[in-house]
Formats: sequence, C-alpha cells, structure tokens
Amino acid sequence: MDRFIIEGNRDLAGTISVSGAKNAILPAMAACLLAPGKSVLRNVPNLIDLKTMAHLLRFLGAHVDFNSGELSIAAATITSNEAPYELVSKMRASIYVLGPLLARQGEALVSFPGGCAIGTRPVDLHLKAMEALGARISVEHGYIHAIAEKLIGADIHFEKSSVGATINALMAAVLASGTTRIINAAREPEVDTTIELLNKMGARISGLGTTSLTIEGVEKLVPAAMDMIPDRIEAGTFLVAGALSTQPVTVENCVPGHLDSLLEKLRAAGCELDIRDTGITVNPPQKIKPVDVLTLPYPGFPTDLQAQFTVLMTLADGVSFIEDTIFPDRFMYVAELNRLQADIRMERNVARVRGVASLSGAEVMASDLRASAALVLAGIVAQGQTTISRIYHIDRGYDHIEEKLNRLGARIKRETA
Ligand code: UD1
Repeated sequence: MDRFIIEGNRDLAGTISVSGAKNAILPAMAACLLAPGKSVLRNVPNLIDLKTMAHLLRFLGAHVDFNSGELSIAAATITSNEAPYELVSKMRASIYVLGPLLARQGEALVSFPGGCAIGTRPVDLHLKAMEALGARISVEHGYIHAIAEKLIGADIHFEKSSVGATINALMAAVLASGTTRIINAAREPEVDTTIELLNKMGARISGLGTTSLTIEGVEKLVPAAMDMIPDRIEAGTFLVAGALSTQPVTVENCVPGHLDSLLEKLRAAGCELDIRDTGITVNPPQKIKPVDVLTLPYPGFPTDLQAQFTVLMTLADGVSFIEDTIFPDRFMYVAELNRLQADIRMERNVARVRGVASLSGAEVMASDLRASAALVLAGIVAQGQTTISRIYHIDRGYDHIEEKLNRLGARIKRETA
C-alpha cells in the first residue's frame, strides 16, 4: 500500500491548477447511460473513483474510453441491469446508475451501499424518489431491486437536501411520462452540471440553481458532449494550503463563485484574496485568526472542506469551533491531527480547536478522502517528517496531489510498498 513521506516546515508559493470535478463527472458518466450513442465528457482527471465508475458502466454494457482528459461513453445497448456488490462497495456513488437503469431499462438491481468511514450514509431518499415516480422497490439479499415498466412524473418532496438523491431523481424523471417537480432539491454546482448535461441530451429541466426543479419527461435522449466544471473541493484544498503558507499562492482554473462560503471564512481568518474570473490568489495572514465553521448544503460551507479548514484552525491564534451538520461523524482525522500535536477536543459533532504554535511531524493514517487531504496539508507545515499511510483514499479524488503541491514547494514523496 502506498504512503506519503512528507518533509515538513515547507513554505508554499506559486501557481497551482485545478482539475475537473470528480463529483460532477461521476453523475455525468451515469447520465450517459440514458442516451443510446456516444457521449463525450471533457476536462476529466485520472482518478480511481472515475475508473471504478468506468468499470461499472462497462459491466452494464457501455464502451468507455479515456484519452488525454476526454472520456467517451457509448451506451448503444445496456446488457445488464445489475450494479454488483464488488463495485458498489468500492464507491457509494455507484448508486447513480439506479435512476438511469430504471428509466431506460425499466429495472435496476443495485447492491446496497454499506456504511463508510464518515458514518452511516443512507439511501432512503433515493429510493423514495424512485417510488414517487412509480417504481416498485424491494430489498433482497443486500440488493435494491427497482422495477417500473414506465416511470410516471410526480412531485418529489425531499425532507433533507441530498446531492445524490436529487441527481438520481433527475436522471429517472427525464424519461418519465408527464411532469415531475423536485421540491427542496440540492443546488450544489454538481447538480447544475448534471442538469446542463441532461438538457444538452434533450431533457427538459427548468429551475437550474434553485431548490425547485421541474422536469417535463421526454421520449428519448440523444448523446451530448460537455466540458466538466473545475473541482471546487480541490480548489478549496489548495486555497487552504495557501492560507497556511507565508507567501501568496494562486489557484488557477477554478470558479470563484463556487467557493464563496470558503472565501468568506478565509477572509475572516485574515487572508487577503485577489479574485479574478478563473483564478484566486490567497495572501496568507501573519497571524491566523480563529473562525467558527458550520457545514451546510450549498451555498453553505462544504462538508468536503471541513477537515482541511480545521487544519488551518489548528495554527490559529485562539479557539475555534467546527461543526459538521451534514456528516456528524466526519471527524475520524481528529485523532491523527492530535498525533501531530494539534489541540482538538470533540464535543459531540463539534470540534473545539485550540490553536498551537506549530504542529509536529508523526506517523498518521488516512481514514477517508478529505481527511487524507487534511493530513497532507498538516504534514507540509508540521515540523519534521510526517508519514501518511493508506493514501489510496486520496487517489480516489485528487489527481497526483503530491506532484501539484511539490511544484509549489512541498516535499512529498510517494513510497510504494
Ligand atoms: C455528495 C458528495 C460528497 C459530499 C456530499 C455532501 C458525491 C459523489 N459525493 O455525497 O462528497 O460530502 O454530497 O455535500 O458527489 N442522506 C439521507 N438519505 C439519503 C441520502 C442522503 O439521509 O438517501 C443524508 C446524508 O446522510 C447526509 C445528507 O443527507 O447527512 C446529505 O448527503 P448527500 O447530499 O446525499 O451526499 P452524497 O450525495 O452521498
């Protein structure tokens, strides 16, 4: 298993570029199943999670090719309606094939995603949406079995904002007969990208960017080509890296409008920001000010940047409180940061972070994707050497993060065991 060996106490400076957004590409790949013919997604990075999705689409009968950042998916015929346990257990986002399979094939058999390192993550909202559209759902031998000869448009009222359930509902409703309304839809940028792609394929979805979406069902979709948006979480991770430095760091190829909640918190922490159309320069403060954070659905502060921002707060001049309302158990990394001599105490789902003068390198273990990114940031600024094991998590969602950060002056070595 690979690990990172990080020489700490490094000061970063320069320019770093952001790749395409994993969480927009995953549902876009699943959406390609809806149109017979070849669709093309551009600005696609080389990530394990995207390979897992490609593997699943091939299993279902699609032809998937990846070449220099371009992914082509040809789904002329679907030969299987089953998303097997081996693939779904590797990646929860495999649940994204549920809506497309049901809409195109009238049947889907998708393994139940298990729990994961950031706590129990149910799929009840996905299933309720399919049921609202007329699907019959049963759970058999660890599999979700959904059947509907023809989906029928309906009102879907989500009691909780869910990115995944909103996208799955959209992908099912586009081929349903009649009108579907999604109330309390998630409005993350990744949902917008899915809507744009589906509309390019001939779907009729209105309400983009709002919590109320209307879908007029159509008979069939056609293939489309589209550029994928930059990854706002990768961009945010690099901005926090800049905030931890003493020199300016510029993050290029991002959409600043997707990062407002983080930018506000970085300013509150004392950073000066220079914002342009597709780039942000962060000028770090002399002293980091403590800032409280509450994660919320978009446009609130993203749970996917919670761990990285906590690292910044470990070096703040005072105490801050970080609360995750979306995934309350997403604090597995806290014990690891404390091994680096951070001073964090958990009080239920709130981390009380008392800033320290410096972190001290140690051996730590990554528990999930964003936690791994947080540990990398901590290792770069800690005194001495930090070794991070189980970094396969980070390769799921960051394209060669060590190479990108090393170009800014970090010293991260990948050791393959
Ligand atoms: C997506 C992102 C993930 C991010 C999360 C929240 C992908 C592949 N993953 O995950 O990185 O952290 O959004 O921004 O895009 N919930 C239910 N029942 C459901 C579905 C969700 O109760 O059926 C709950 C979840 O437990 C959580 C909240 O709803 O508390 C939001 O989760 P959701 O937005 O669905 O997250 P994902 O789409 O799984």
